[in-house]
Amino acid sequence: MTDKPVYILAIESSCDDTSAAVLKNAKVLSNVVANQKVHAEYGGVVPELASRAHQQHIVPVVHQALKQANIGKNELSAIAFTRGPGLLGSLLVGTSFAKSMAQALQIPLIAVNHMQAHVLAHFIEDTSQQMPDFPFLCLTISGGHTQIVKVKDYFDMEILGQTLDDAVGEAYDKSAKIMGLSYPGGPLIDKLAQEGDPKAFQFPKPKVKGLDFSFSGLKTAILYFINDQKEKDPDFVEKNKANIAASIQHTIVSILMEKLVLAVKQTGINLVAIAGGVSANSEMRKSLQKAQKQKNWHTFIPKFEYTTDNAAMIGIVGYHKYLKAKFDSKDTIATARLHVEET
Ligand code: KG4
Ligand code: ZN
Repeated sequence: MTDKPVYILAIESSCDDTSAAVLKNAKVLSNVVANQKVHAEYGGVVPELASRAHQQHIVPVVHQALKQANIGKNELSAIAFTRGPGLLGSLLVGTSFAKSMAQALQIPLIAVNHMQAHVLAHFIEDTSQQMPDFPFLCLTISGGHTQIVKVKDYFDMEILGQTLDDAVGEAYDKSAKIMGLSYPGGPLIDKLAQEGDPKAFQFPKPKVKGLDFSFSGLKTAILYFINDQKEKDPDFVEKNKANIAASIQHTIVSILMEKLVLAVKQTGINLVAIAGGVSANSEMRKSLQKAQKQKNWHTFIPKFEYTTDNAAMIGIVGYHKYLKAKFDSKDTIATARLHVEET
């Protein structure tokens, strides 16, 4: 490698956030995210509305990212984009945009696995953040995934355990919907929980062997509990929302922490990272910090802006692929399903 800096333009459009970022080597120069408000009233992401919104946002978002980074498109070394997993219609918008821009500029195209990007967000250079050494464990918790990954190298990852049904973000969002909150409900439950008693209500924890997870039973238990209580008092949720939120949050976080403890025990690896949208959760962060002190773990908690979907994390993968000259052809296709173990 020469000392010439590498400038990557990264594009993320896998779900309901349109994002573009510019990285100079491993540093983020800009990271612009346009959220899609259209889904709030539907209680979840509506795929058709998502791809339409991506089409509206992509040009201004890329323009803004280049402007904030203060670089011209002719200075770019390569374009990285999310190939999958995600909603196909959404992925296609970012994929086609990236392909045509790379072709017009005659620069390499780099396809990125969104799940690897959540994990590798820990390698974004930032003075306030420490980077993990290999191997480390990463609990990736998002709206679509819940998995404990053994990260042996940048592109060598192994799933040790994962959800058998709903993802943890879905458990948050569906519980919020049952409580009458809007989408995405995770941050709303987190906020309400600050004022509540985590032991006010008890919800059953799933009995799943090994390092796998299950969240669908919890959602059903919450639904039955709230329906029963509403029969006795129609204002039950309104009167108890902080306590309900705190109890749900406490149950979810203890399920996640119990499995992490087991993963550390089984692997003997005490470098533990969290990633994905749910890693923004305040109780999850606190519990990990507590484990750092009490269990002598080395923990890695991403900055808020790199937890939920963003293009900076796509850019850091793009940078490491660029260093290894792992480029993709314009025939690369977007794919709704992609394993974290596949590059
Ligand atoms: O990683 P992400 O942006 O998208 C996916 O790849 O799925 O994760 C989105 C998920 C949503 O389910 C959202 O409710 C959840 O992350 N989330 C949170 C918090 N912030 C976002 N869940 C709990 N507490 C939060 N503070
Ligand atoms: Zn994600």
